[in-house]
Amino acid sequence: MRLTARQAHLRVALFLGLFLAVHFATHFAGLGGIESHGAMLSIGRGVYRIPVVEALLVTALATQVFLGITLVRRMAQWPRLDRWRKAQKWSGIALAVFIVLHTSAALGSRWLFALDTNFNWAAGTLTIAPLNYGFAPYYAAAVIALVTHVLAALHIRRPARRHGPALLLGPAIALPILLAYGGALFPVELPAAHRANFQTYLDLL
Ligand code: HEM
Ligand code: HEM
Repeated sequence: MRLTARQAHLRVALFLGLFLAVHFATHFAGLGGIESHGAMLSIGRGVYRIPVVEALLVTALATQVFLGITLVRRMAQWPRLDRWRKAQKWSGIALAVFIVLHTSAALGSRWLFALDTNFNWAAGTLTIAPLNYGFAPYYAAAVIALVTHVLAALHIRRPARRHGPALLLGPAIALPILLAYGGALFPVELPAAHRANFQTYLDLL
């Protein structure tokens, strides 16, 4: 059986959806505090940190970005794109940039700098000024792009009026997550290792 790029992209999306469900469950657990975040993080890591699973996850992400770029390039030959197609294209491009930066930052921090990429890792970028001025829109854009991309996929397969207003789910999901990591819901005290790590970025500014 030969899969088209679009069919392959859909299958990889279903696999990545499993990771993303666990990833966002961890972000939402963070609304209840650093301890509940840690508990959910350990459950997720118990699965996606198994070396073969993590290798599959990173390969799936690289494949998805590669397939996505192929699909975007094909769209260039289409006579015109309607609004949902444009949303699919630009949210895909935003996701490509975010996936490359975010995955390499997570793996690089862990492997090269031996930093625990736990609650404090995301919180460091969202509590320390001026890093938070860049990272808050960066994370918000990623969540909005993901929600837009999936809604565009649903709409293109089966149009429904509710998909337009459902785009508000993007900011509605991003905001509480950013408030929790940003220290607006409960006090966040960064451990020395995380403070020192972010200080190196501040020294570069
Ligand atoms: C987390 C990563 C991603 C997920 C979960 C995802 C999910 C999806 C899904 C479910 C579809 C609909 C497929 C179908 O209906 O058969 C789709 C289509 C599409 N995606 Fe993605 N995608 C991701 C990343 C990307 C990236 C990084 C790009 C671009 C660089 C991209 C570009 C596209 C394009 C252009 C289409 C429309 C394909 C067509 O109809 O010809 N996607 N995506
Ligand atoms: C509010 C937005 C987000 C925040 C604050 C965030 C935060 C984090 C944190 C703290 C980790 C480390 C997890 C660990 O050590 O187990 C991580 C890893 C990761 N995140 Fe996110 N994330 C966000 C959105 C996303 C999105 C939208 C995607 C994909 C489209 C994504 C994909 C990943 C991947 C692939 C990893 C690496 C997993 C691994 O192999 O260890 N994240 N993120």
